[in-house]
Amino acid sequence: MAVTGLVFVGYLLLHMYGNLKALSGEQAFNVYAEHLRTFGEPILPYGGLLWIVRVVLIVSLVGHGHAAFALWARAGNARRTKYAAGKAALRTAWMRWGGVFLLLFLVWHLLHFTVVKISPNPDATGPDVVNNPHRLLVASFQVWWMTLIYVLAMIALALHLSHGVFSAMQTLGWTNSAASYRRAKLLGHASAVVIAGGFLIPPLAIVFGLIQ
Ligand code: HEM
Repeated sequence: MAVTGLVFVGYLLLHMYGNLKALSGEQAFNVYAEHLRTFGEPILPYGGLLWIVRVVLIVSLVGHGHAAFALWARAGNARRTKYAAGKAALRTAWMRWGGVFLLLFLVWHLLHFTVVKISPNPDATGPDVVNNPHRLLVASFQVWWMTLIYVLAMIALALHLSHGVFSAMQTLGWTNSAASYRRAKLLGHASAVVIAGGFLIPPLAIVFGLIQ
């Protein structure tokens, strides 16, 4: 869980940083999106790096999900009666159902931007929007319910990250002293704020008309 989780943290940091290019305008964002595909040419084919990243993410996702369900089953076997709803029980439930929600969000997100490239904005459909990443982004988040879905997903992501990053540190043995325990807690909260907060900047900037 820890290692595959940290792979996601690395990917999310890069993805979030890349999305902030939307603030630099249509051209900067679209050049960046195209650069993701030409990166490493001619050693790699067109889109080669993207496919390497995709394979690493898919393998990590299978590993992360498998470990999660194995833990879930083990916890279920270990105890048949329910715990009183303490803080730890709440956190466990949150990690499980939050994780399931994030998986559903990922399917929605890939259908939205990668596979189908749909714009939920009836005023902005057609190839000029759908084949233009920046315009697709702007047209998508001009629709309130699409922004709401992403805001809810980023809240779920923040909660998942703040406990997940701490938990990964603990698994890797980096919480053995009081000081390192506090540091791991802080790192968990900081990663949640930076990643989920950073992701929310472009959609909110679009909603408030700062990016058009
Ligand atoms: C507000 C939040 C987010 C926004 C605005 C956003 C935006 C985008 C956009 C525009 C693309 C298409 C890039 C392209 O094809 O050039 C994309 C792809 C992708 N996003 Fe996000 N994203 C967000 C959050 C996330 C999160 C939280 C995850 C992971 C749980 C994620 C995972 C992915 C993946 C796996 C791809 C596909 C990359 C590929 O294989 O082509 N995104 N995102």
